[in-house]
Amino acid sequence: MAYNRFFFFFLFITIFFNLAVVSSSQSDAEILLKFRESLKNTGKLSNWDVSKPPCSGWNGVVCEKGQVWGLQLEGMGLHGVIDVEALAKLKDLRSVSFINNDFDGALPDWKRLGALKTIFMSNNKFSGEIREDAFSRMLSLKKLHLANNKFTGPIPQSLVALPKLMELSLQNNEFEGEIPLFKQHGLKLVNLSNNKLEGHIPPTLTNLDASSFSGQSLLFFLKQPSHFNSAISICNTMIF
Ligand SMILES: *[C@@H]1O[C@H](CO)[C@@H](O)[C@H](O)[C@H]1NC(C)=O
Repeated sequence: MAYNRFFFFFLFITIFFNLAVVSSSQSDAEILLKFRESLKNTGKLSNWDVSKPPCSGWNGVVCEKGQVWGLQLEGMGLHGVIDVEALAKLKDLRSVSFINNDFDGALPDWKRLGALKTIFMSNNKFSGEIREDAFSRMLSLKKLHLANNKFTGPIPQSLVALPKLMELSLQNNEFEGEIPLFKQHGLKLVNLSNNKLEGHIPPTLTNLDASSFSGQSLLFFLKQPSHFNSAISICNTMIF
């Protein structure tokens, strides 16, 4: 008898917790519709419809193995707020692109989505300083494109140690101060041109094309100007 009572108690607890889990987990469709709520001018997303799964052809939703892997919302005239809290619930999301839209304001808090591999936000009107720790622990991040916005302040230090970073496109903003000492040797595409940077080009970046650094209002030195190579350095600044 005691055994039976224990069994039913256990059964009840199990059912109760299962129900709690099921009712609290939203479907990807519900998550994406919540995400859309805070966007403006969403005409191009009008086929997002809760009665069909997102991977059945929702505009701008990229799927892999039947799961939402990326959002490619490019050139859609979107603005408003990018609801990172909502996106953080998409377990398989690895790539976001908002290129060529009308977003403004601060950079969304992407480190809430620690598994992202690519973040493309070029050609918008984002502005303001980016927090130093904005990308901390984004260990999978390979590509960050923020070009053609109005970001100000220093290039965030949290980028310097991301082990997978390959592409960093920051041109045509108002970043200022010195270029952080990037440690990665895998950086293939870096563009810092047309900002307000100054100082030395870190050793890991000296093999890049000069056009990666052009258009700064202040002078650049290719190497630490020692007594020995200062003449060379000054010649180099004239290229930029
Ligand atoms: C960097 O961006 C500038 C400005 O858009 C462009 O002219 C230059 O070719 C780019 N350089 C590289 C290496 O991508």
